[in-house]
Amino acid sequence: MKKIVTTTLLLTCFIAFSQQKTIDQKVDALLKRMTLEEKIGQLNQYTGDNAATGPITINPNKQSEIKTGLNGSMLNVLGTQHTRQYQELAMQSRLKIPLLFGQDVIHGYKTTFPIPLAEAASWDLDAMELSARIAATEAAASGIHWTFAPMVDIARDPRWGRVMEGAGEDTYLGSRIAYARVKGFQGKLGDVNSVMACVKHFAAYGAAIGGRDYNSVDMSERMLWETYLPPFKAALDAGAATFMNSFNDLNGIPATGNKYLQRDILKGKWNFKGFVVSDWGSIGEMINHGYVKDSKEAALAAITAGSDMDMESNAYRYNLAQLVKEKKVPIALIDDAVKRILRKKFELGLFEDPYKYSNPEREQAALNNPEHRKAAREIAAKSIVLLKNEKSVLPISKQTKTIAFIGPLVKERKQNMGFWSVELPEVDYDKHVISQWEGLQNKVGNTAKLLYAKGCEIEGDNKDGFAEAIAIANQADVVILSIGERRDMSGEAKSRSNLRLSGVQEELIKAIQATGKPVVVLINAGRPLIFNWTADNVPAILYTWWLGSEAGNAIADVLFGDYNPSGKLPMSFPREEGQIPIYYNHFNTGRPAKNENETNYVSAYTDLKNSPKFPFGYGLSYTTFEYSNLKLSKNKIKSTEKITVSLNVTNSGKVAGEEVVQLYLRDKVGSVIRPIIELKDFQKIKLNAGQTKTIKFSIDKEKISFYNANLQWVAEPGDFDVMIGSSSADIRLKDSFELLN
Ligand code: NOJ
Repeated sequence: MKKIVTTTLLLTCFIAFSQQKTIDQKVDALLKRMTLEEKIGQLNQYTGDNAATGPITINPNKQSEIKTGLNGSMLNVLGTQHTRQYQELAMQSRLKIPLLFGQDVIHGYKTTFPIPLAEAASWDLDAMELSARIAATEAAASGIHWTFAPMVDIARDPRWGRVMEGAGEDTYLGSRIAYARVKGFQGKLGDVNSVMACVKHFAAYGAAIGGRDYNSVDMSERMLWETYLPPFKAALDAGAATFMNSFNDLNGIPATGNKYLQRDILKGKWNFKGFVVSDWGSIGEMINHGYVKDSKEAALAAITAGSDMDMESNAYRYNLAQLVKEKKVPIALIDDAVKRILRKKFELGLFEDPYKYSNPEREQAALNNPEHRKAAREIAAKSIVLLKNEKSVLPISKQTKTIAFIGPLVKERKQNMGFWSVELPEVDYDKHVISQWEGLQNKVGNTAKLLYAKGCEIEGDNKDGFAEAIAIANQADVVILSIGERRDMSGEAKSRSNLRLSGVQEELIKAIQATGKPVVVLINAGRPLIFNWTADNVPAILYTWWLGSEAGNAIADVLFGDYNPSGKLPMSFPREEGQIPIYYNHFNTGRPAKNENETNYVSAYTDLKNSPKFPFGYGLSYTTFEYSNLKLSKNKIKSTEKITVSLNVTNSGKVAGEEVVQLYLRDKVGSVIRPIIELKDFQKIKLNAGQTKTIKFSIDKEKISFYNANLQWVAEPGDFDVMIGSSSADIRLKDSFELLN
């Protein structure tokens, strides 16, 4: 038996090796036939006819350039018909090198899933992998080869609008999610239902100063390696085919022209074999940064630093040939970039069939697949976070007679898609998305009377709708209020200095709360918002983010207890903007405050608590969980040994529910100081009422290692705290161990 397994394994390795060899040979053979212009053509990417996702450059010669092999890739071309049309142009070129179609398939293609930050709140890695898989299946059937996702930027600043696109503030959680998403998108590359992932934005884009998009980033090497790079490495370990660089400068050097990031770390130390695409126009933007004086210098800096493909700057198109002729760019650099791109085109099977992914029948089947909608509904429900539930206002009883549903987002459809959704021209998104109103109607049918009032707009100071809203609230047994951001208030270039509920929304909540009726507030947003009055006064709050196509049904499932909420915050929610950046895994300082009231000569604000309003990892359920019986298999270990941590979790409430059991560690003393608490593992478990499960975690050297002052990854002997919590601020069980010399 063993022999058979070994032989099969050897055979598989041999086949994989010979296939790879064939691809490399094919790439080399093709490269030999290419002129310099054709090579440079492979390094260009143009936007197509669909909505531009950046400042558009007009190129009237686009079509003829594709026909002459002067362009290798396009973005923003949607659907089998359009991708086919452009591919037909490429097939008229001398060498018939197929185009690569890239697209921002960030949280679904036609079936829209929750925004990535919302999905991260599910802490459900399988669900996130599945949503990426479905997005890939739909996009690939429409002719897309490549998604510009996942975004794995760690984000500790909710003023930055792009927090909606990532997995939040934590490196460990972010790395696990990055891995799952890459696996989901890519499946098995080359299969017709897979797309290449593009891990972005390399690197440290999430640390833009002041949370202002595109702003500079200034950080220590240790911070870069310890906090910002690991999710990229995890995505690479999952097999990510491509990377995108970034708009920001890092310590004075734009990421796009940053050799240290792209050549030394990514292609050097990490041995990345795929290719790097620039961000939209980011090669040309190095002129504005003041890093280069013109487009020619920009092209030189970018190609030298390791940016293989130019998205929309036209810097490579106009300058690379001249730079080669002037011997400023060695042809080997161009060849390397071209080979990286061609290799992917071969791996995708595009040379065998350039239309392989543009298949109308598959498109029709994939885009209208009811299973996809079912998954979208389930994942949306899992992404909702129950922030507060006093007096058991939730779940709403199905016997309730009259329900008032109030707010500017109740009847919206498209808003639920959030930022970075794909808008297919032929789809009417005003029909495609289940509104919250429709979701409620679907849920209650004729059993309850539903009343509706808009109350107010999302922005502006008009309170004319208040009276009607108060009137229907007075007639109802329970009131649900749906408020928050517009979908385009969080996203690219959507930084906000003020994170309060906009307009008169909080005043509307106050007016409705004053009726004395039980109130449930739904907060729809792409980022953590600040809503202190609501948090302190309203009995029930669900943070619903933006949930996608099935938003309305998923929200109704949670409101009525058909799904027991299980989401946990992937970012800390600040009390005031003045606390930002705010994150749970901070250092202790030399003068930590002993409690929230202590301010004198300690590290604290004199006018505000240090703690967030809602902490990282926090989220309630309709049931309760008890933690007990923490055991460590050893309390002293050598670095080669492992500790098994076990504990019991009991569902002590009356309904089934899911809990995210979180393992945190603290390294008490280090040669560089360590955070007061760090997430190092978690498990999401389901328990029936009364059920107990034993959970096991393993702690090994990897989990207790960190970058020392010389940037070496080490585990230092000494004492460690082990903390098991229901959130980063709700530690239920604690023990410690020692790492011996
Ligand atoms: C700019 C964004 O930063 C990037 O994430 C996106 O993929 C490109 N535009 C293409 O739309």
